[in-house]
Amino acid sequence: MALKDSLGKTRCVYIPDDLEYDTSLFLVPSCYKDDLKSLIICEGLIKDRIRKLAREIHESVGDQPLVMLCVLKGSYRFFTALVDELTITRADLTCSTPLTVDFVRAMSYEDTETTGKVQLVGLSNLEEVRGQNILVVDDIIDSGLTLSRIIHTIKELGAAKIWTCLMLSKRVKRRIENQEDFVAFNIPDKFIVGYGLDYNQKFRDLNHICVMSPTGIAKYKSRSS
Ligand code: HPA
Ligand code: MG
Repeated sequence: MALKDSLGKTRCVYIPDDLEYDTSLFLVPSCYKDDLKSLIICEGLIKDRIRKLAREIHESVGDQPLVMLCVLKGSYRFFTALVDELTITRADLTCSTPLTVDFVRAMSYEDTETTGKVQLVGLSNLEEVRGQNILVVDDIIDSGLTLSRIIHTIKELGAAKIWTCLMLSKRVKRRIENQEDFVAFNIPDKFIVGYGLDYNQKFRDLNHICVMSPTGIAKYKSRSS
């Protein structure tokens, strides 16, 4: 079982509303200097948290075949770091079952808003899902629409057991409640970028999780809006 607090919520690192570091105290690509207001989670903290999450996941899942499903594009960095840590954990504990990876692309955001329509691409091969134990790895949950679409789809494709692992859980009201089994950080309701998360495809290469500045939001706004 995933770790729960006394109210039944999944335990994770809570980032308070007023926690904002000055980005000039960290290494940030100079092209992004004016586009960011503050830093809320640095790379080191993400890495340490992933190491612990891998242990928690292993303790829950145990020694059984596992498919880790990466929800692209946002979770690519979180996913690879988590796969690496889980692989080390499983090797240390001499697991006898394979860990495999798969990918699905989900799209719903334009600028800083969700369009409300979730498009899934790439999850078409029944055999990759049917009868498998699947850990869905996503970068962020806010409305819950994307995760719900994915869980619904893999259930329909015949997945055996399903767990979810989320790097960030945003403190906003869910439009759909989903299982949030493993969560790295609980974050305030701010539009953030970095460590894989984008704003109109920019900032995925930023190593830390940062809040956008109004300048950055205006500079990279999509042409259609
Ligand atoms: N930033 C980037 N992508 C997102 C966010 C966010 O705050 N919320 C949902 N997708
Ligand atoms: Mg995502």
